[in-house]
Amino acid sequence: MLTARMSGRHSLALNENPYGPLPSVRHSLEQALASANRYPEYLPHRLARAIAARIGCSPEQIVVGAGATGVIMHILQAFVAPGRARVVMAEPIFDGYPVLTATVRGHSVMVALAADGSQDLDAMRAAVDARTGVVVLCDPHNPTGTRLRAGELTGFLDRIDTRVAVILDEAYIEFVAPDQRIDTETLLAAYPNVIVVRTFSKAFGLAGLRVGYAVADPQAAARIARWQVPFGMNILAEVGVRACYAAEDELNERIDAITSERDRVSVALRRLGYVLPDSSANHLFVPLHDPALAHRVSQAFCRAGIHVRKYSTGVRITVGDRAANQAVLTSLAEVRAAAHRLSGSVSTR
Ligand SMILES: Cc1ncc(COP(=O)(O)O)c(C=O)c1O
Repeated sequence: MLTARMSGRHSLALNENPYGPLPSVRHSLEQALASANRYPEYLPHRLARAIAARIGCSPEQIVVGAGATGVIMHILQAFVAPGRARVVMAEPIFDGYPVLTATVRGHSVMVALAADGSQDLDAMRAAVDARTGVVVLCDPHNPTGTRLRAGELTGFLDRIDTRVAVILDEAYIEFVAPDQRIDTETLLAAYPNVIVVRTFSKAFGLAGLRVGYAVADPQAAARIARWQVPFGMNILAEVGVRACYAAEDELNERIDAITSERDRVSVALRRLGYVLPDSSANHLFVPLHDPALAHRVSQAFCRAGIHVRKYSTGVRITVGDRAANQAVLTSLAEVRAAAHRLSGSVSTR
């Protein structure tokens, strides 16, 4: 049976990479399949060492999991404890956070985004109390793609109880220029309660292989690693990661293609009159507060076979290949033209 996602011609709902594995990565994965009768490593220490060597930290700081989702689950299992069961996060956020918080019997405390689509750190800090076990921050944020502002993060961390674990979710960080990223080692040295989370699902294009990791202070990492499932990573994970690292230049070209498309589409949407936050990720958030306009957008996407993630306040559109992005622009231009015909002008604010 076809799911809605599979039957859509343009799957732009899950922030996936539009490109399949590079030929070299695919070749390595195919070769590794020949050993599918063998178990993987009991716990993925080799993979942790490979990641640590790549990003320049100690292997004791890395915890690998089944996607960032798997790692987030283990962080919540480790830090959401009786009496400290609250998890503070922005709303909206990556759907996994409220879902996994409920799984560990925690309580999600949702804090509305600021009007410009960024996380409201003052309001989030005000939501932290003695019952808070974890705070989640995304950089860039999902769904809006906004960044944390310079100085804002450390100002926030300075005022948070160090017993509270702060997840800094960097699922989309590879779409940010290296000189614009927060330095993980410096941050962790100053704030050992921070746990950085990353994934190979987005820029690296390995969503189907399920590989993610946390970078943390060694003590926090050990606490999270206690929840790892023996033989929990499949044999392709390590091979896929190493092959991606070996193909860094080609991967960077793809990342550049995605970010240029993102910028091209956002410029075009603004020209059409849509108001959207600046995205530093592989997706764009188009606020649609007028229900009639949201309905027209939904219908236009449906007609064009475009599948996006809908929210009560707008839509999140993954940057796809050129054809998918053109289809998005054509649909939203049509909606705009129809809206002008109907009322002369419709604000997306
Ligand atoms: C902010 C954020 N964190 C984590 C994830 C989970 O990624 P994965 O489990 O595929 O590694 C996603 C996926 O969309 C995400 O948007």
